[in-house]
Amino acid sequence: LTAADINEAGHLQIGGVDSIELAHRFGTPLVVYDVSRIRHQIQAFRHVFEENHVDYAVSYASKAFAAVAMYQVAATEGAHVDVVSAGELYTALKAGFPMEDVSFHGNNKSRQELEMAVDHHVGTIMLDNFHEIDLLNEVLTAKNSSIDVMLRITPGISAHTNKYIQTGQVDSKFGFDLGSGQADEALQKVLANPRMKMRGLHAHIGSQIFELAGFEGVAKKLMEVAAHWKHDFDYEAEVVNVGGGFGIRYTKDDHPLKPEEFVDAIIKAIKQEATNLNLKTPAIWIEPGRSIVGPAGYNLYTVGSRKDVPGLKPYLAVDGGMGDNIRPALYQAKYETVLASNPAAPLTEHVRIAGKYCESGDILAQDQALPATKPGDVLAMLDTGAYGYSMASNYNRNPRPAVVFVENGQAQLVIKRESLDDLVSLDLPYNEN
Ligand code: LLP
Repeated sequence: LTAADINEAGHLQIGGVDSIELAHRFGTPLVVYDVSRIRHQIQAFRHVFEENHVDYAVSYASKAFAAVAMYQVAATEGAHVDVVSAGELYTALKAGFPMEDVSFHGNNKSRQELEMAVDHHVGTIMLDNFHEIDLLNEVLTAKNSSIDVMLRITPGISAHTNKYIQTGQVDSKFGFDLGSGQADEALQKVLANPRMKMRGLHAHIGSQIFELAGFEGVAKKLMEVAAHWKHDFDYEAEVVNVGGGFGIRYTKDDHPLKPEEFVDAIIKAIKQEATNLNLKTPAIWIEPGRSIVGPAGYNLYTVGSRKDVPGLKPYLAVDGGMGDNIRPALYQAKYETVLASNPAAPLTEHVRIAGKYCESGDILAQDQALPATKPGDVLAMLDTGAYGYSMASNYNRNPRPAVVFVENGQAQLVIKRESLDDLVSLDLPYNEN
C-alpha cells in the first residue's frame, strides 16, 4: 500500500472508493476489483510486444477470475482469452467476447465442449492429447467444419513453485510428450487432417514463477521444437505460445520482476533463438492469469469472534474463509491484510486470521501483524484477485460472496451475492415411499 491508497478519512480506498463504504453498501465478505489495475496490466503486456515489434496476443487465462464483466474488460483492452470449460466459454459468449480471440485449453475436453467450440467458431483449440485429436476430428466431420489448432507440448522444465501448480515437468498430465516422439506423431496427424489448421505450439511451465530461467528455457525449447518440425516435417509454426505463470508479489518476502519484464525477456529469447536456428520470428502469445487480476483484487471481511490462548497467537475470526479463498488452506499461500478503517495505524499484535468454515485448516493468515481490532471492524486482504473467487465453493452451505468492480470513484456490482434460496435452488425433495 502507498499513501495514495488511503483517503482523507484515513481509510483504505480502492479505485477511488472508500473500502468501508463498499463493505457497508455491499456487505461482507466482499470481493473488490480495481479495474484500472486490470487494464494497466494488460496494456503493459501489450506495450512490451509493441516495443519489440513482434506479432502477439495477450490471452488472459480466465480461470484466474471468470465473470461476464471480466470478459468485457478483457475485450475492451484488446486481450484474447483462454477458456478451459464449457462454463468459461459460455460466460465469454454471454459477455459478447469475440470468439475468434478465444483459445480452448484442457486435458480432457468433452465431446459436448468441442461441439460447442466448433459451433461458436472458437479461434483456437489447444490440442492436448491423441484422444482429443480423434474426438475433434469426429466433431468436425459430423459438422462438416474446420478449426484452427495448436499443439500443447510438455516442455520438460520444472519451475520452482508449489508442486500442485507446476505443469511443465516431463511427468505431467498436460500436453504431448516430446522425448518419446508423441509430439511429432501428433503434428503429423494434424497436418494430415484437412479440417484442422495447424497454427503453432504451446507450453506452460506452471504458475507463480519467479525465476526468469524457466521462461527463457521454455522459449528456447519451443523454438527448438519449431526448428525440428521445419527441418523434419517441412512445417513452420506461425505462433509460439509460452503460457502464463508470471509470479506476483503477495508479501514483503516476494520480489518478482514486473510481469512485463518477464515477457520482455521471453520475447528477446525467442527472437535470439529464431536468429540462431534460422527461423522467422513467430507470433508470440502469452496466457497470463494471476498477474492480470491478482494485484487488482481485495477481499473485505468483517471481524467477529476472537479466541485468546495464553502463550499462543490469538485467533481473529472473520465472516469468510476457505469458501471464498481456499489458497491458504490448499497451498499455504500467504497474503497481507490491513485494517480497512486505518491501514496506517501502528501494528500492535500478531494474530491468526481464522475463517468461519468447520475445518481447522481454515486459517486465512497464520501470522498477520495488525492494530487492535474489535468485532465489526473491516479487514482488507490484498492481492486476492486471482484464483480466489474462481475457486470459491459452497462448503458448509455458505453463500459465495458478491463481486464489485470499482473504477474512477464508482462501484458496480458485477456478481451478486448468493442468497440462501440460491443455495437450495438446485435441490429437489426426495419422495420417500
Ligand atoms: N495457461 C495455462 C495453460 C495454464 O494452465 C495456466 C494456469 C495459465 C495459463 C495461467 O497461469 P497464471 O498466469 O495465472 O499463473 N489455482 C492455482 C493456480 C493454477 C494455475 C493453473 N493454470 C493457484 O491458486 O495458485
